[in-house]
Amino acid sequence: MAMYNLRINGISFQVDAEPDTPMLWVLRDNLNLMGTKYGCGIGQCGACTVHLDGAAVRSCSLPVSRVGDKAITTIEGLSEKADHVLQLAWREHDVPQCGYCQAGQIMNAAVLLSNNPKPSDQEIDHAMHGNLCRCGTYLKIKAAIKTASSKL
Ligand code: FES
Ligand code: FES
Repeated sequence: MAMYNLRINGISFQVDAEPDTPMLWVLRDNLNLMGTKYGCGIGQCGACTVHLDGAAVRSCSLPVSRVGDKAITTIEGLSEKADHVLQLAWREHDVPQCGYCQAGQIMNAAVLLSNNPKPSDQEIDHAMHGNLCRCGTYLKIKAAIKTASSKL
């Protein structure tokens, strides 16, 4: 075990963990941040997407020892009152069905819009294609991203 100083959603945490512990488990088990979901555990579904210094990363595939002093943002820290432009658009379009994939979808879409506030349809498809939704909410996700983009 080793001690890691982590900066998550603007707060500093000390975590005692094995170096290869995935950040997903640190978030959920050590810090009780349950918004980030476990889907596949092998970097294939996007359910566990968080931001690492503003980039979308899959926390199931990110060992705690690789985080260093980079800032992590989870769905809980995306906005103070769950009023990020994407979260409002998600509500407007009533996007989630079971909801399981949605935190990862929103976190991935947030990086897309911060890099490219006015993405084309093709750019949305390209950016979001690795985030899977077993309920098939893809059309609503795309519509919500376009609504959010129109407000930026
Ligand atoms: S749980 Fe991380 S990509 Fe599926
Ligand atoms: S809303 Fe059910 S997996 Fe996406």
